[in-house]
Amino acid sequence: MRAYTKKDFPVSQIRRFLEPGPIVLVSSAWKGERNIMTMGWHTVMEFTPSLVGCIIAEGNHSHDMIRRSKACVINVPTSDMARTVVGIGNCSGADIDKFEEFKLTAVKAALISAPLIKECYASFECKLADARLVRRYNYFIFEVVKAHVATAPKVPRTIHYRGDGAFMVSGREVSFRPLFRPEMLNT
Ligand SMILES: Cc1cc2nc3c(=O)[nH]c(=O)nc-3n(C[C@H](O)[C@H](O)[C@H](O)COP(=O)(O)O)c2cc1C
Repeated sequence: MRAYTKKDFPVSQIRRFLEPGPIVLVSSAWKGERNIMTMGWHTVMEFTPSLVGCIIAEGNHSHDMIRRSKACVINVPTSDMARTVVGIGNCSGADIDKFEEFKLTAVKAALISAPLIKECYASFECKLADARLVRRYNYFIFEVVKAHVATAPKVPRTIHYRGDGAFMVSGREVSFRPLFRPEMLNT
């Protein structure tokens, strides 16, 4: 293992190292309108019920649509969709229909009114589980009530946002299974 020489780093930029999981596209629907936003700030919170917390800023058109409909779909795009992901994050559903603008296919969800995005590798139907932190932090806690995941490829090439326009693309999968205590393999 290598020992690193370190220097001071702005605390406001530590996201560059901690930014969670893949960038996602959040689709929503409210009163006949549908929308999509790009989201990087999300975290898994619990196995069962399956809880995911995320920041959806108040200024985003999606914020009110999701707060009112109490539901959304978290869709996982792959690296070939990078331009679309940035484009969706650069405009507002208040002005345009992003499904039309970005030529994405809305698919009816099983349990909620928000549509799935067919071109994404995975789509998780979410119901708002706890809105107590929305007013204070724009933090929505969702329960994933149904998950749709592509059958191939086995490991998707996802994109991970590092801020300042920089992304990382997921790479080779490496298994350390033999190092795990068996009971830890479920965690
Ligand atoms: C790479 C990237 C990541 C983003 N992550 C978030 C996020 O985690 N939370 C958020 O509120 N907005 C985030 N945004 C900004 C929204 O996607 C953007 O404001 C979007 O236009 C909102 O769309 P809407 O107004 O139609 O809801 C991100 C944008 C980009 C490009």
